Amino acid sequence: MIMAEYKLEVTTGNMTNAGTLDYIHVTLIGTEGKSERTELDNFGVDFKSGTTAIYTVKTRLSLGKLLLIKVEKDALFFLPEDEWYCSKIVVTTPEGDVILFPCYRWLSRGELVELRGGRAIKVFEDEHPLLIEHREKELILKKSLYKWEIIDEMLPHMSHFKQMSDLPAEVCFSMSKSMEMIYTKRITGAELMFKGLVGSTEQWENTEDIKKIFWSKRTPVSEFVTEHWKEDDFYGFQFLNSINPNVIKRCSELPPNFPVTGEMVKPFLKKGSSLQKEMEKGNIFLCDFKRMDGLPAKAYDGESPRVTAGLCLFYINPENKLLPIAIQLHQTPSEENPIFLPSDSETDWLLAKMFIKNADFMLHQSVYHFMNTHYLAEVFTVATLRSFPVIHPLYKLLVPHVRYTLQINTMARKSIFAPAGILSRSSLGYDGMTELMRRAFSELTYSSLCLPDNITARGLESIPNFYYRDDGLKLWNIINSFVKAVVEYYYPSDSEVCKDTELQEWISEIFTHGFLGHKASGFPACFNTVEEVIKFITMVIFTVTGQHAAVNNGQFDYHSWAPNGSLLLRKPPPTTKGQSSMKTILETLPNVGQTVSFAAMSWILSDVYTDVVPLGTYPEERFDESAPKQIIKEFQAELSCLSEAITERNSQLEVPYTYLNPAQMENSITI
Ligand code: FE2
Repeated sequence: MIMAEYKLEVTTGNMTNAGTLDYIHVTLIGTEGKSERTELDNFGVDFKSGTTAIYTVKTRLSLGKLLLIKVEKDALFFLPEDEWYCSKIVVTTPEGDVILFPCYRWLSRGELVELRGGRAIKVFEDEHPLLIEHREKELILKKSLYKWEIIDEMLPHMSHFKQMSDLPAEVCFSMSKSMEMIYTKRITGAELMFKGLVGSTEQWENTEDIKKIFWSKRTPVSEFVTEHWKEDDFYGFQFLNSINPNVIKRCSELPPNFPVTGEMVKPFLKKGSSLQKEMEKGNIFLCDFKRMDGLPAKAYDGESPRVTAGLCLFYINPENKLLPIAIQLHQTPSEENPIFLPSDSETDWLLAKMFIKNADFMLHQSVYHFMNTHYLAEVFTVATLRSFPVIHPLYKLLVPHVRYTLQINTMARKSIFAPAGILSRSSLGYDGMTELMRRAFSELTYSSLCLPDNITARGLESIPNFYYRDDGLKLWNIINSFVKAVVEYYYPSDSEVCKDTELQEWISEIFTHGFLGHKASGFPACFNTVEEVIKFITMVIFTVTGQHAAVNNGQFDYHSWAPNGSLLLRKPPPTTKGQSSMKTILETLPNVGQTVSFAAMSWILSDVYTDVVPLGTYPEERFDESAPKQIIKEFQAELSCLSEAITERNSQLEVPYTYLNPAQMENSITI
């Protein structure tokens, strides 16, 4: 009797509790038949965390081309549920072929999973009826597991999950089941660090006292902030290299509602120069918070509103320092809306700068952090999970970049960006922040999400000491080359793009549910060319890695110290000059308890967690063919060069810019 032997190398994940004592059965299915349902059982304990074991499946004849592996998990006696995290199965066939069957998911009892292996296959390349049917069934299942939900008619749609526990085992990836608990514990833990201060309604007696709350956590940048927050050049620096480099733009003409005169700012410009001349030379910049005009603000102690739709004018001086030179706190000029200048009293100027920072920080959290990275990442995640079967090359490319995103957003919607979440304690409150998101979303354009276009549109190509731009453009180009290589390998011509119905559905779901069909904003509704696919996927990966890191990772550095930028200011903005003192500043800053809860948030949101996957590392092996594996290696080499260059540059800087260092950013949004 002829016997054929299949060697199976089965790898169990290395996270805690990944192993199982349950019975595991496999059935191999090929073009020429299928194997017996075979128990995987070696001497001793099978399926221990982080191990690979070899099993043999024997058949009478070769099964032909191997199509699927059916994996079943059955209870051992009456023991309680014992989930198994299967990473992958590598099969060596009697013909000597070695085929990778990626799994990378939890299996519950009684669950049956059919794995597809081998090289990535697009929908029009599947020929075997069994595989065509398998592919269709997989997508039907995916669409029932991941559904769109409209939470707000004017914002991107989201996933329908309300709790972490609602998430299907399949999407939990490697996340340990206790993550939610750990996360909640961290919030309370962080608040407890500031023992005795949580909930305190006391006012700070001086800004030095605020330093005392940080006895247990400091970073070199956060320390620098506490020492230099009042200085104008450090203030300007932050609009380029802190956590919101997204607002500033070149100003070649003053907005008509910002009547800064040449006389007003002459003393702050280079001797003999004028505002007009400096504007012509491209040395004048502007932050305009007009989007915040008229937003509903939260009443505080019966007073309102305290939201500042201000304007701040900046000047690049001959020493290449960006300095604020004029601030108007509301959009409409009037007697009660004076233009503040660096020559005003120290506290008047400081207050004006604080109100601009408050507006900037609220815009940062709601628009540039939550909406433009977290919420868009969720759109990309849901569309990827619904539209692509796991054998699709773009699923393999994209899925590492959506890891944990549904989890973190589900949690954030409960505790951070929620009616009772921490951001609701900002000056705008939850309703104001949501309205701000809607306004910004209605104006969102595709090009603003593509860094090279964004920098050009804002006229920031040559402003000196702009590390976000310098590092960001290099990173964009590296991601772009990587995506180009992968996409061109699988789509040699535009016709493959046009006939890939799964790819077309992916972009159509993103267009409809993510960008709400805003065609005028430049978002593609379908793909006609390989080039369009490359650009869009570059934007997706850049958004969930670099852009998120740029707006997220410095939150503790720059915003744990409330005077440097607070989500809440308790007093209305000043309407006249010469009335303020240090007392006004302290009355305006959040009280002790509020300061502590914002500091705790900035801590949690920029903390580094244990199971970080840095950009470009792919611990889950999903590609079986050598070309993409080689492309990944080149990607990693380029990222590591950039990382070295950034580290070298930073060693020369007083305040380093680390947020776009590839070694320090994650492969997806996980926090
Ligand atoms: Fe984040």
